[in-house]
Amino acid sequence: MMSMKTTISVIKCDVGSLAGHHVVPQPLLNIAERRLKEAAETGLINSYFVFNVGDDMELLMVHNKGVDNTEIHTLAWNVFQEAAKKATNLKLYGAGQDLLVTAFSGNVRGLGPGVAEMEIEERASEPIVVLAADKTEPGAWNYPLFKIFADPSNTAGLVIDPKMMCGFKFEVLDVIENKAVVLKCPEEMYELIALIGTPGRYVIRRIWRASDDMICAVSSTTRLSLIAGRYVGKDDPVCIIRAQHGLPALGEILAPFMHSYFVEGWMRGSHWGPLMPVGLKDARCTVFDGPPRVVAIGLQICNGKIACDDDGKPMIADLFADVAFDMARQEAMQFAAILRRMGEFMPARLGPEELEYTGLKETLKKLEKRFKKVE
Ligand code: 13P
Ligand code: 13P
Ligand code: MG
Ligand code: MG
Repeated sequence: MMSMKTTISVIKCDVGSLAGHHVVPQPLLNIAERRLKEAAETGLINSYFVFNVGDDMELLMVHNKGVDNTEIHTLAWNVFQEAAKKATNLKLYGAGQDLLVTAFSGNVRGLGPGVAEMEIEERASEPIVVLAADKTEPGAWNYPLFKIFADPSNTAGLVIDPKMMCGFKFEVLDVIENKAVVLKCPEEMYELIALIGTPGRYVIRRIWRASDDMICAVSSTTRLSLIAGRYVGKDDPVCIIRAQHGLPALGEILAPFMHSYFVEGWMRGSHWGPLMPVGLKDARCTVFDGPPRVVAIGLQICNGKIACDDDGKPMIADLFADVAFDMARQEAMQFAAILRRMGEFMPARLGPEELEYTGLKETLKKLEKRFKKVE
């Protein structure tokens, strides 16, 4: 029997890009648009929205099949395969980059694509924000998610709204050891910060409202290099957040992006860089393959679908396209210029344990015999 609940799935993949790791070209997006339209016509999904952030293709799908559903994952996998094939034919850069495994067994988790999925009981009104970023990693959401759901200086509702005063529970994944812990805020806020202050290892995966365990946020948490055993690109992340009415307001979800902040990624996945909030038209990476960019999509879920306009088109708000984020964009470019002055010297470059490229290891190996013992 079909579940009466609604599922929001965002499944994303770098299938190839134009002129380096820059942007998903239109012919690849057209494939996704075509296939998801067909899936909506046959009733597999109820609504969809295809977009890109830099070189990452993002499939936002709304359906009634629950999370980790084989048909939904197969649909996404087939879109990525077909788009990667087109990318190969066009000799686009990094064709099929994130498709790390050829044998598909019904779920894209662990195969390269990033996944954030949430099954919800629709509230009277169900505002949703989807964050998606390029040239960074899932730990990039730690800082804003902490601010949104735990920091009363960001989220007035934690102080003012009685429905939020019970706090929120955070599931933190250790991506190296593949184990998770749930911490409750405000009581365990210091323990939470102790972990998620290391975003390359501890990643917020899910958040629930403590009073009723209602799911509030879900992020993608793969680590491609751990799947592939080598650097293949960063795990450019996505995150789904529910808003309003006993949850953070839209404006509280967007407030952490009023300023730029630093994330791991950028050039060759090996540098600290400032995250720049941008509208969809600016969701492409240029300077030093960045700076890392984030978009925010706003929508309403309505009876299992994305609420539509009079022409039946899903209504999508391009939230960072607003002038209110001009200051963060300016800041990001200033931070970018400061960091780039330092070239390959830490802290501009990531520490050796976080460096994605293996070049450094090879250099050490090459020099091994020339190192002489010093008395
Ligand atoms: P809610 O209506 O979701 O409680 O939000 C109130 C508000 O003023 C948000 O800024
Ligand atoms: P992506 O992870 O976005 O493909 O970027 C890879 C890279 O090396 C950028 O410099
Ligand atoms: Mg790429
Ligand atoms: Mg990317």
